Amino acid sequence: MGTRPEIIKFSPIIRECERLGLDYFVLHTGQHYSNSMDEVFFEQLELPRARCNLDVGSGTHAEQTGKMLIGIEKVLSRERPDVVLVEGDTNTVLAGALAAAKLGFKVGHVEAGLRSYDRRMPEEINRVLADHCSNLLFAPTAKARETLLGEGIDARAIYVTGNTVVDAVYQNLEISKRKGEAWDALGIEDGDYLLATIHRQENVDDKTRFHGILEGLQMVQEEFGFPVVYPIHPRAKKQLDTFKLAANGVKVVEALDYLSFLQLENNAKLVLTDSGGVQEEACILRVPCVTLRDNTERPETLEVGSNVLAGADPTEIVKKAGLMLAKNRDWENPFGDGKAGEKIIGILREEFA
Ligand code: UD1
Ligand code: UDP
Repeated sequence: MGTRPEIIKFSPIIRECERLGLDYFVLHTGQHYSNSMDEVFFEQLELPRARCNLDVGSGTHAEQTGKMLIGIEKVLSRERPDVVLVEGDTNTVLAGALAAAKLGFKVGHVEAGLRSYDRRMPEEINRVLADHCSNLLFAPTAKARETLLGEGIDARAIYVTGNTVVDAVYQNLEISKRKGEAWDALGIEDGDYLLATIHRQENVDDKTRFHGILEGLQMVQEEFGFPVVYPIHPRAKKQLDTFKLAANGVKVVEALDYLSFLQLENNAKLVLTDSGGVQEEACILRVPCVTLRDNTERPETLEVGSNVLAGADPTEIVKKAGLMLAKNRDWENPFGDGKAGEKIIGILREEFA
């Protein structure tokens, strides 16, 4: 693992390993390293420390991935695991899968088979390559399985398990409700606000798109009268300063810990996001979502009606926000029953018995 969403989505798998007393360890690449993107999640989710941290930090895609490959190869050569698990679509996932596959170790890809069919996204390249060098593909939905079959992957290697994000939400929602009320600290009223997250490279590294989204959020705030809270990712913060953009009418706060974020998400009138995990969580929590992208690798959310695409155009963002604010929250969660972690570990235990 290496980033915020991987820590969160791996947590149910780690808890299952702990429960069963399995021999496993966590290798952290150090892709995320700021306290608010890393340490705070280990603490809150009560996860054991990583056995090793490669501390690769930030850099260009090649620099970052290259350093990871070198570091991961050393650790895996020494530890010789039966199987290496990677989760999601980050550079950490690509490096982990590639290094392990080249050493001849079995690779399990958790959250396999997602496709946006948009190669401008670095994540899309990572997903495709990780899937195609994995031996066990843990697809969250039947649709993801179909995608993998369509790319020629052997049906015997694919397991539909649900997404571990559901496990994480179910395991932590009640705990988050017992935490101090997150909205009080932000000076907003319970249930009377909108929640935004924007961090994706193709949005925040593009001045026109980032500006369009911020203008859209301001117009949404003016049109519907609810404050918009934006816990900002460090990449977006850096780009906001670089482009000298103003987030007028938007309450920008530091990136939040998981329990506070989950609580805010659960009580929001609407979520506006370009995050993959947040699209899923909003769907699970029955909070309507407007996705600030032109496509999504989570089409299940569009199909059940929890989510719509708005891109980065301000007028479209306002239109879609209005549509989703009026939405009946009666959709089914397509991402599983919250037992994905258990299923994945069960499959591995049979495979490597
Ligand atoms: C990465 C993933 C993305 C995922 C996101 C989760 C890739 C290609 N991208 O994007 O898929 O959605 O993580 O949040 O793997 N920074 C900090 N502190 C940190 C980490 C990053 O300040 O702890 C800043 C640095 O300025 C860095 C920038 O954020 O240059 C981008 O970090 P990076 O890890 O390259 O990509 P993310 O945008 O975080
Ligand atoms: N998240 C969080 N604090 C925040 C924003 C997001 O804990 O301020 C959590 C959120 O609940 C979700 C995950 O981070 O589980 C999503 O990560 P991110 O958006 O960084 O990455 P993506 O899912 O797009 O890869």
